[in-house]
Amino acid sequence: MDTCPANLALAAADTFGTSLRDDVLAGLAAVPRALPAKWFYDEQGSELFEAICATPEYYVTRTELAILREHLDAIASALPAGAVLIEPGSGAGTKTRLLIEACLPCAYVAIDISRSMLEIGAAGTARRFPSLQVLALHADYTRLDTLPDDRLPPGAPRVLYFPGSTIGNFTPEETRAFLCRVARWIGPGGSVLIGVDTRKDAAVLEAAYDDRQGVTARFNLNLLARLNAELGCTFDLSRFRHHARYDAQAGRVEMHLESLIDQQVEVAGVVHAFRRGETIHTESSYKYTPDGFRALAASGGYACRSTWTDAQGAFAIYHLMPDAAMAESRTDGSR
Ligand code: TRP
Repeated sequence: MDTCPANLALAAADTFGTSLRDDVLAGLAAVPRALPAKWFYDEQGSELFEAICATPEYYVTRTELAILREHLDAIASALPAGAVLIEPGSGAGTKTRLLIEACLPCAYVAIDISRSMLEIGAAGTARRFPSLQVLALHADYTRLDTLPDDRLPPGAPRVLYFPGSTIGNFTPEETRAFLCRVARWIGPGGSVLIGVDTRKDAAVLEAAYDDRQGVTARFNLNLLARLNAELGCTFDLSRFRHHARYDAQAGRVEMHLESLIDQQVEVAGVVHAFRRGETIHTESSYKYTPDGFRALAASGGYACRSTWTDAQGAFAIYHLMPDAAMAESRTDGSR
């Protein structure tokens, strides 16, 4: 960053305990093979993800933005004024700026695993809102136990903003565990505004995760390029292909990298044999009916206060509040 705006502070949380190397060795030794999705987001991956959001097939971003615009007043009045707005996986932060304009938080905490995307996004938001206190927290939020409470305004209500159906990239069990952890971040009086994709026609879903321009394919294959660059692996990207398939039973789109031939690849000093047609599972994107998502949130200790959707019901935004007991353990003891 050239100049750091005065209202922007940078911090890092020690959450990078498992390294890319450990995760890759474990994931490729597993049956079936799988890699954790968080490693998609290096600089190139974060840029490709922004490009996915602009493809004609990926209705998710556009639809969520339209719902937010349409219901902005209602959403803003559901949220407390002067809150601390917390966004895990903040990325470029386009939707967030709309929300900040409408609900006037006193502070904004952006958390991202990609340092470059975090700094660009948070600096942009800080410049746009000079009186907003912005904290850019470089962290793997899937491993973050507590927020740096000493760097946040004490006593302010906290709102967690989690758009983009990122929650769908967790399994339902992981979703429950994440929501429990979030309840500790936000404490009593806190709430969660979350965007979640709905179940729909398989063809629509599969196109959204396999666009005709091939941006999603490049995004998925970029993971192998990253492994080559950072771990000295020998993946030949032309010998794998991106594959997306909707499992209607499980309600999830699965992304895989499929080996096009029988081949051997060296991964961090270990040779792995891939059979033709064998895949590495790189991501799942779970889809929920509104009733299904509210039931999952309830099992994680949250009541749903409001649901906003588009006319087709293609996407939904939920406002969740933790049951009182869940939130009591906020670490700084305030409120
Ligand atoms: N949260 C996004 C989603 O599930 C992430 C995503 C979009 C994604 N397209 C992708 C992840 C393609 C992997 C591959 O909709």
